[in-house]
Amino acid sequence: MSDYHIKNLEDYSKNYKSSVNNPEKFWAEIAKNNFVWKREWNSVLNWDFNKPEIKWFEGAILNITENCIDRHLDKHANKTAIVFEPNDENEKEKKISYKELYIRVNKMSNVLKSKGVKKGDRVCIYLPMIPELAISVLACARIGAIHSVVFAGFSSTALATRIIDCDCRLVITSDGSFRGNKILDLKAIVDKALDNCPQVSKVLLVNRTKNKISLKKDRDELLAPLLQEAKEECVAEPMQSEDPLFILYTSGSTGKPKGMVHSTAGYMVGAAYTFKNIFQYGDEDIYWCTADIGWVTGHSYIVYGPLLNAATTVMFEGVPSYPDFGRFWKIVEKYRVNQFYTAPTAIRALAKESLDFVNKYNLSSLKVLGSVGEPINEEAWNWYNNHIGKNKCPIVDTWWQTETGSIMISSIPNVIKGKATFATLPFIGIQPVLMDNNGKEILENSVEGRLCVKFPWPSIARTIWGDHQRYKDTYFSTFENHYFTGDGSYRDDQGYYRITGRVDDVIIVSGHNLGTAPIEDAINEHNEVAESAIVGVPHEVKGNSLFGYINLKSKIDPTKQNQLRNEINGLISNQIGPIAKLDQIEFVPGLPKTRSGKIMRRILRKIAHNEVDNLGDVSTLLNPEIVNQIINQIIK
Ligand code: WT7
Repeated sequence: MSDYHIKNLEDYSKNYKSSVNNPEKFWAEIAKNNFVWKREWNSVLNWDFNKPEIKWFEGAILNITENCIDRHLDKHANKTAIVFEPNDENEKEKKISYKELYIRVNKMSNVLKSKGVKKGDRVCIYLPMIPELAISVLACARIGAIHSVVFAGFSSTALATRIIDCDCRLVITSDGSFRGNKILDLKAIVDKALDNCPQVSKVLLVNRTKNKISLKKDRDELLAPLLQEAKEECVAEPMQSEDPLFILYTSGSTGKPKGMVHSTAGYMVGAAYTFKNIFQYGDEDIYWCTADIGWVTGHSYIVYGPLLNAATTVMFEGVPSYPDFGRFWKIVEKYRVNQFYTAPTAIRALAKESLDFVNKYNLSSLKVLGSVGEPINEEAWNWYNNHIGKNKCPIVDTWWQTETGSIMISSIPNVIKGKATFATLPFIGIQPVLMDNNGKEILENSVEGRLCVKFPWPSIARTIWGDHQRYKDTYFSTFENHYFTGDGSYRDDQGYYRITGRVDDVIIVSGHNLGTAPIEDAINEHNEVAESAIVGVPHEVKGNSLFGYINLKSKIDPTKQNQLRNEINGLISNQIGPIAKLDQIEFVPGLPKTRSGKIMRRILRKIAHNEVDNLGDVSTLLNPEIVNQIINQIIK
């Protein structure tokens, strides 16, 4: 795999140039030299952003699990593939070798097949961070079923929406989930969701928490006995390059989540190549990403990226605060972790606690630190650099999205020097551009614009499940012939990118991508609510918190307001999950609107940020008087 590892800046520049000047040649070489194919492609890339249609490695046949597992068995059969660190630090960890992973994935594949799952079928996986989650993902991929992992913090309503949208017939879940000192009853959530999903005929259950569950006759089955019986060999399904590998839902500007569809070959190449280079993974390294596999970070950088590189990947079931705020650092010491990848919100939360939680542990194994999910502010970056990296670990601030499948803009340890608050330079093969408001590309530096990408990369999502038109409208219609990210970005005089945040109706709270629309829909379900608008407000730990302006149908007694706030947050919790609860709720007499009836969030955002001196011209509003009323109420 000699051409696969970028070692210095010269290497980067050389590879970057060839990836841009001759992308087909470049990616064909990467693909040919670093993966196993059952048949090679006829054409490397066919694309048209206006349709939009993107196809990589057409004509090739492969199975991604042979690349993640089978091919490593020669040299790495006994190497640890997955280290499982349980929620409870007193429970013994589990180390799963590549050989054991092979057997467990094959067994799971055979179980799925025995339940009638076939190539192209969608399987919903709703599991805590336990090995069975990674194994289920891989088992689906092995038989060509499309996995749709739903984060096990989503509510039953959110789960049902996702099951219905892609028509899953089978759900894999567990009796429960350990979160710190709590047990979450996942089975009850699934049962409730399935009341609305008659198409689901089979639920397979992992026993994790041993809390009491009831099994629905004919529908629910425990996995353990099925796995015990299952054969250890399952032939990997031959997959076309463009066959969907998985669906993963992300929020959008309407209430309906978008099921992003990722391809088999392109995704594989993108996840593997970025993992190796951006973390500078070396053969003996222990790598740990703290994300949940319910998000794309977990797909690409806990499961696929590491396993494609025969890496050892740590999977942690618990939370950073349990049993105390030293847990992450204790785990780093325990396994001598070399690469550590987490989110700014976790860093900010831990930075608020005593340094004793950090300094108790030996962190000298660390070589590379990563950050993902939202902009990392300078203070958090410095804390991470000083106290975790001890000023000797490069920090990779990796910008990417569910839609991009793999990292797009990032520094590279010992290759591209990091710079606080900057994701820095585009990764190999990525061609970002900044656009002005008129849709013109901005060529100069030291400017801010809307971040777009002008050329396809292998791991770009190919469509939105069941709604190709929405895929086109969301990503390819704002700027002609460009993929629009929804983010704003600044580019400095060296060409380094600093992501400034979303420019659409998505708010990132604790690294979770939340659309305002689904939250507003949930609020509006309340009988007393006429309409609502959500904005994000900067928050020192969560990055953003949610601020809701709510216009009630009729005035209510001030003593009842708090109860109403609780009811509204309860509805949000039910519809979406606790992560989407509002930190502040203001009952206002109306919402500022344009003449066409669109809520002016820009103004509401400024008021929530306490920036009322510069509201701009409000006279063209439908109801300009409402602005002062809201200001007087909120800014005291
Ligand atoms: C949005 C995508 C990518 C995996 C996790 C989130 C924001 C992501 C960064 C970063 C600044 C970032 C963007 C992006 N974002 N990484 N390093 N610096 N912002 O995936 O849920 O699809 O969210 O997260 O706003 O558009 P996602």
